[in-house]
Amino acid sequence: MMDDSNPYLPYTVRIEDAWYETPGDRCIKTFKVNFTDDKVWDTWSHKPGNCAMVGKLGIGESMFCISSSPTEEGYLRFSIMRMGKVTQALHDLEAGDLMTVRGPLGNNFPVEEWEGKRIITVGGGIGQAPLRPVINYIRANKEKYEELIVLYGSRTSSDICFQGELDEFMADQECGCHLSIDVEEEQWPHFVGFVPTLLMEVSPSPENAVAVTCGPPIMIRFVIENLLKLGFKPEQIYTTLENRMKCGIGKCGRCNVGPLYVCKDGPVFSYETLQKIPEAFA
Ligand SMILES: Cc1cc2nc3c(=O)[nH]c(=O)nc-3n(C[C@H](O)[C@H](O)[C@H](O)COP(=O)(O)OP(=O)(O)OC[C@H]3O[C@@H](n4cnc5c(N)ncnc54)[C@H](O)[C@@H]3O)c2cc1C
Ligand code: FES
Repeated sequence: MMDDSNPYLPYTVRIEDAWYETPGDRCIKTFKVNFTDDKVWDTWSHKPGNCAMVGKLGIGESMFCISSSPTEEGYLRFSIMRMGKVTQALHDLEAGDLMTVRGPLGNNFPVEEWEGKRIITVGGGIGQAPLRPVINYIRANKEKYEELIVLYGSRTSSDICFQGELDEFMADQECGCHLSIDVEEEQWPHFVGFVPTLLMEVSPSPENAVAVTCGPPIMIRFVIENLLKLGFKPEQIYTTLENRMKCGIGKCGRCNVGPLYVCKDGPVFSYETLQKIPEAFA
């Protein structure tokens, strides 16, 4: 756990492995890291949905979700899209280099409350990063859940994040996995169209189900609209908000929506909560 006497004090982690998930200007790079002080594991505990401030000394830090599940022991993973100053500096790092990690921060997906239910994840682009720990947690505890359905969409086939794992889900009879790309490509055997349309094509039943959606705000808005059309109730729908952040611990007021601090009360929210806050999707 974080040092309560100084919540701004980060841990030092060493990069064990790093690889690109996707190409291009806004490429996504995954970092597998481990604490330089092994004793941190004695007190560290995170759940799917928790985040952390990840940084490079002398440059700064930014908020990222922890993209590994707590069931993956002995390391943490972060999958980072190159956007600007901090993410560029992090992308310049390779195996053996040091990063800082301040966390775990925020709330988490209530995966324990969801036991016995059918879980549907609907992701787009880098939005698969907060969904990956949910999926891997459920796969590691599959006897506790009725069903897992994974829907994921990207712009093109080369923009698919976690391609190898999604291929694995496709091959797994116990996990329904459905992929889409925005525009037709030769040899693409799966759905072509936007993620909200893929959702309607798959049409999961809302019975005993929870749907979790993460991705670009516009995608989230239409996915939620379509989930409601399919009969999901607001309390059966979860998402994350990714407002710009500074302190990450509810002190600076940078990230608030309505009465909520996204860093402290979120980033995970049910649609039941968000529908009462008009600014949430502004
Ligand atoms: C709770 C939470 C979880 C997140 N998880 C991830 C993750 O797992 N992987 C990942 O790649 N990113 C994630 N992000 C977004 C990430 O924090 C930003 O991309 C990062 O802070 C950009 O830092 P920078 O210094 O490189 O960019 P800057 O130089 O600060 O900005 C570069 C560009 O990115 C835009 N930008 C910066 N932050 C955000 C944001 N929060 N939302 C939308 N646009 C932004 C700016 O408007 C600007 O156009 C998350 C954000 C939050 C709040
Ligand atoms: S980032 Fe400072 S209050 Fe949320």
